[in-house]
Amino acid sequence: PTIHVITPTYSRPVQKAELTRLANTLLHVPNLHWILVEDSQRRTTLVSHLLQETGLNYTHLNVETPRNYKVRGDTRDPRIPRGTIQRNLALRWLRETFSPNSSQSGVVYFADDDNTYSLELFEEMRSTKKVSVWPVAFVGGLRYESPKVNTLGKVYGWKTVFDPHRPFAIDMAGFAVNIRLILSKPQAYFKLRGVKGGYQESSLLKELVTLSDLEPKAANCTKVLVWHTRTEKPVLVNEGKKGFTDSNVEI
Ligand code: UGA
Ligand code: MN
Repeated sequence: PTIHVITPTYSRPVQKAELTRLANTLLHVPNLHWILVEDSQRRTTLVSHLLQETGLNYTHLNVETPRNYKVRGDTRDPRIPRGTIQRNLALRWLRETFSPNSSQSGVVYFADDDNTYSLELFEEMRSTKKVSVWPVAFVGGLRYESPKVNTLGKVYGWKTVFDPHRPFAIDMAGFAVNIRLILSKPQAYFKLRGVKGGYQESSLLKELVTLSDLEPKAANCTKVLVWHTRTEKPVLVNEGKKGFTDSNVEI
């Protein structure tokens, strides 16, 4: 099965560094298709060139998040979570590209551009029948959050402190979906409006599966194979107003 990795990305000083690091990881994964979705009005040359140079099998899309949605904590306009419109565009692309009764076998994974992924993770998710799940480190104020798995290997809840009663109390990096399920439920998207913090993942997953369908991976969710790392914003104060370094040099 092909692994379709969906990554939203946006322009900022560390973008090329993040995408370089992620591409270097993905280059080690056999049978992979990277769907990179830029949060921008047009596809940028920076990202276009980077993708060409990696030699990865990729699809390059773009859609800009409306500016008023970007403001965090704006009470008049409940915030659209980051990367959501971009992930939904990739879901639509998959549905327009592969017919629901095609023999296409594959798995869909939402990989943000700043996390850290072990190669083992991709081999774990490859056998996903419906939706597979595993622990994610550095989320929800814990060393890691994890699905709760019983002795029969069934998921029965969530080892989280932050709102464990969410239908699926799991980070974006903690699950993968079989592409047949994505294609057979064409109405299933991440909800854009009225989604409380931490409910984004649930808004898609509850359209696709119930708790009893979940397949625990990573040794029954006892191993951490993905880390929700976040990159520090670089200090660029010495650039000054006009910029000290040559702005034609791509970073
Ligand atoms: C957490 C979750 O891990 C994300 O999956 C979730 O989308 C996010 O919260 C949220 O709901 O806001 P966090 O590290 O806070 O992640 O978010 P980022 O890594 O900053 O953004 C998630 C993805 O969206 C990244 O791939 C990022 O490049 C992209 N993004 C972010 C955009 O495309 N546009 C933006 O304006 C911001
Ligand atoms: Mn992140």
